[in-house]
Amino acid sequence: MADHLRKFESLFTLTPQRMRMIVEAFKESLELGLAKPGQVVPMIPTFVLGWPTGQESGNYLAVDLGGTNLRVCLVSLEGGGKFEITQSKYRLTEEQKAEDGQALLDFCGECLKTFIDSSIESGTIGKDEILPLGFTFSYPCLQNKIDHGELIRWTKGFSAPNIEGRDVVDMFRQSLAKYSVPAEVVALTCDTTGTLIASHYVNSNTKIACIFGTGCNAAYMEKIGNIPKLAHLGLDPKGEMAINCEWGAFDSFEHEHLPRTKYDIVIDETSPKPGEQAFEKLISGRYLGEILRLIICELIDEGLLFLGQNTYKIEIPYSFDTAFLSLMESDPTDELLMIIGIFSYFFAVETTLAERQFFRALAKLVGRRAARLSSCGIAAIVSKMGYLEKGCSVGADGSLYNKYPGFADRVHEGLRDIFGEKGRNIVTYHAEDGSGIGSAIVAAMTKQRKAAGIYADI
Ligand code: BGC
Repeated sequence: MADHLRKFESLFTLTPQRMRMIVEAFKESLELGLAKPGQVVPMIPTFVLGWPTGQESGNYLAVDLGGTNLRVCLVSLEGGGKFEITQSKYRLTEEQKAEDGQALLDFCGECLKTFIDSSIESGTIGKDEILPLGFTFSYPCLQNKIDHGELIRWTKGFSAPNIEGRDVVDMFRQSLAKYSVPAEVVALTCDTTGTLIASHYVNSNTKIACIFGTGCNAAYMEKIGNIPKLAHLGLDPKGEMAINCEWGAFDSFEHEHLPRTKYDIVIDETSPKPGEQAFEKLISGRYLGEILRLIICELIDEGLLFLGQNTYKIEIPYSFDTAFLSLMESDPTDELLMIIGIFSYFFAVETTLAERQFFRALAKLVGRRAARLSSCGIAAIVSKMGYLEKGCSVGADGSLYNKYPGFADRVHEGLRDIFGEKGRNIVTYHAEDGSGIGSAIVAAMTKQRKAAGIYADI
C-alpha cells in the first residue's frame, strides 16, 4: 500500500512551479474572455455597475436555484450594511435536474408562490404588494442587460432540456405568470456575483468572491474600459462592472494546462457534458467523492482491497459523497472509527486499520489538490488586477469552503507557494450569503440605478 500511496502522491501533488504555470495560463484565459465573446472562460459582464453603497434598503425577494437546493427568501435591507432574511429551502431531486427546463422554473415559481402566500398570512408581506425580485441562477448565462440571461450550458450535472440557449428570465417570468406570483424580476444574478456584492456590503476590502460548493466559480469588479467586448455599448470606460468569470470552464476542451489524472478523465467522459468545466471537475464538491471512489474501485479490481467482500455498493457511480472525504480527514480517533462507520454503514464492507489510513491519505491528496488549484484561480485574478501589494479580502462560500476541514488553510498555503510571503496579503473569509442577500442588494441597486435614469435600458 505504501507503494500505491507514493504513486498517488506524485499524481495528485501540485508543485509551486506547476501552480505558477497554471496561473499564467489562467490569466491569459481571463484576458481573452474579456476581449472577445464566445471564449472558453466566458468572463460574463453582469451589468451590476459598481459596488453597493451599504445604504441600500427595502424588502426584496430572492429566488436561488443552486446545484443542490432551491431557496426562496425575503430579505429586508436595513441600510448601514444590515439586513434580515427569512427563507424556505427545497432539496432538488435528480429527476428535477433532468426534467423539462420550463417545468424546473415552474417549480421555482410554485415554491415562491407558497412562500409569498404564507408571508402574507404572517403579515411579513403586505396583501397587495408586488415585491422586486433578484433571481440567482448559478449557471453560465450570457447577459446583454441585467434582467436577461441566455443559458450557455448546464453545469453541475444538470441536463434539463429546452432551456440551453434561451433567456431564463423570460422563462421564469412565464412561470410567475402561470402561478400569479406577485413579484417583479428586476435582476438576474449568479451566486458569485451576489457573494461579491453581499460581502462588499459588509466588508469593503472585499475585491473578489468565490464559490466552492457543488460547482466552483469567481466574480470580481472590473473597469469597464478593460472589457473590450463591451466597447460597442459606449458605457463610461472609467465606470465599473462586476464580472462573473465562470472560471470552472478554464482549460475545457483542449485540456492543455491542468494536471488531469485518468480518474478525472473518466469523470469527464461519463459526465453529461464531456470536455466542459475542466477546472470545476477537479475542484468542486460534486466530483471529489467520485474521484476517490474511482481510485478505490480500481484497487478493488486489482485485488488489493476488500477481498472476499461484496463491493457492489461502492461500485455505484457517485455513491461516495464528498462529505465523506471531509469526515475522513477530520476523524480524530486512532482507530479511525468514522472511516469504519462510513465503509460499513454506507457500503457494507469491513476495513483494516491500514486501509483506513490509506483512504485518509488519499482523501487528503484529493482535497489538497482541489484547494491548491483554487489558489491558482484566485492568484490569476489577483495578479491580473494588481491586488498583491496592497492585499485584498476574498469572500468565499459553498459547502467545500465552509465544511471541508483545512480547505481555507490549504488555499492560503497555495497562495504563499505562488506568491511567496506576499501571498499572505490575500485572505479568504467566509462570505455573506450571496445568493440571498447579494441578490437582494443587486435588485436594490438596479432599482435605484434605473429610477435615476442611469443606463435605464440595460
Ligand atoms: C456554475 C456557476 C456557479 C458555480 C458555483 C458553476 O457550475 O457554472 O455559475 O457560480 O457553479 O455555484
